[in-house]
Amino acid sequence: MAEIAKLTLDGKEYEYPIIEGSEQEKAIDISKLRAQTGYITIDPGFKNTGSTTSAITYLDGEKGLLRYRGYSIEDLADKADFLGVAYLLIYGELPTQSQYDEFVGKIRRHTMVNEDMRKIFDGFPVNAHPMGVMSSLVSAMSGFYPESYSKSDMDNIDLHIVRLMAKLPTLATWCYKKSQGHPINYPNNNLDYCSNFLHMMFALPVEKYEVDPVVSNALNKLLILHADHEQNCSTSTVRLVGSSQANIYSSISAGISALWGPLHGGANQAVIEMLEAIRADGGGVEKYLNKAKDKNDPFRLMGFGHRVYKNFDPRARIIKKAADEVLAALGIEDPVLDIARGLEEAALSDDYFVERKLYPNVDFYSGIIYRALGIPVNMFTVMFAIGRLPGWIAQWLELRNDGQAIGRPRQIYTGETVRPFVDIENR
Ligand code: ACO
Repeated sequence: MAEIAKLTLDGKEYEYPIIEGSEQEKAIDISKLRAQTGYITIDPGFKNTGSTTSAITYLDGEKGLLRYRGYSIEDLADKADFLGVAYLLIYGELPTQSQYDEFVGKIRRHTMVNEDMRKIFDGFPVNAHPMGVMSSLVSAMSGFYPESYSKSDMDNIDLHIVRLMAKLPTLATWCYKKSQGHPINYPNNNLDYCSNFLHMMFALPVEKYEVDPVVSNALNKLLILHADHEQNCSTSTVRLVGSSQANIYSSISAGISALWGPLHGGANQAVIEMLEAIRADGGGVEKYLNKAKDKNDPFRLMGFGHRVYKNFDPRARIIKKAADEVLAALGIEDPVLDIARGLEEAALSDDYFVERKLYPNVDFYSGIIYRALGIPVNMFTVMFAIGRLPGWIAQWLELRNDGQAIGRPRQIYTGETVRPFVDIENR
């Protein structure tokens, strides 16, 4: 017999169906609750609320599992390349060789950005944070592809997807080049995705730049690890904006803004800043652990804790190993890595962190690798955005294809009840 949930309200009993996912996760379907009872549910931060069903990413925070379309993150990080993973997320299956060649070929051909976008970009001050610039430029892209405004423009959707995938790295490197006072590099479409990004970032007109395969492989892995993470803050933002049938560029731009926050993608920047502060303070971790535990101190251990993972974040395991390998291969000794290791060890044996199931998250070690690859701190979250792009696209597409209703939560009003207007001289 189908399982149901029973609810008693004001002496009346109501029944709600149970929805079960393919991994046996269960939800009470309350979509008829308000119509039947007049009540709504309240769940600040949506800790218990499923906003959608989705066939893209599965994660089990208790067991520390993460899979894209059924494939484990460990397998994908080990065996796939980022564009193959992007194809998997967006179109549902790993590409055949010809599908892969076509997808990659199109992305290679669309890496250039309309020159008029430069005029918009040039108006930003040199010290503007690249996440704000990226969000603005992606939003501006909609103006260059006005056919995207039409809600029925799903015929061109593959082209919009290719444009976003191809141009985001180009835009990202503009931000870096401007911050350095260097000329921007045009893309080199003979290079693969990661190598082309590194070339646009680091090549200078005055000398030859060779992409180090250690660096491009590490970047490929980092992008895969960040590619999707189901209904997190930025993805939910992309879906919410997309649910109003706003175009894909505006929706992704909103996702970039959401990712910027230090409690989300901005944590990778905050981690390095925290580790640097500890180093400048003599390297001892005890003081910072105590600050993190002190409820009167707003300080949190950045890169620790996760809304969903109450066990090790599987991405953190892969990144920690990759950080060791990359630093060894590049011959880099980073004192901050030792501080990170010491902090992790101390936190994992501290009751406060153990009781609250606070483990290192994906961002705890990613900044250390980015730094080793020569990527400056204020670009870390931009790297996350490049990685997360296929996830945002896949989720946006799924929302559209499922024909989901506009996202519009309700509230419980706690303000003043009706009162007479007071003229200004009497206030
Ligand atoms: N340092 C110290 N204490 C922490 C930390 C932390 N990093 N994270 C959570 N806690 C404590 C909270 O104070 C709370 O304690 P209490 O029960 O005594 O009140 C308890 O652990 C639960 O924390 P919540 O804030 O309720 O957990 P939530 O799921 O809302 O937050 C979050 C998750 C935002 C990631 C949080 O752990 C945090 O702020 N971490 C630091 C920022 C960070 O690394 N963000 C990146 C997340 S991964 C990503 O977005 C890619």
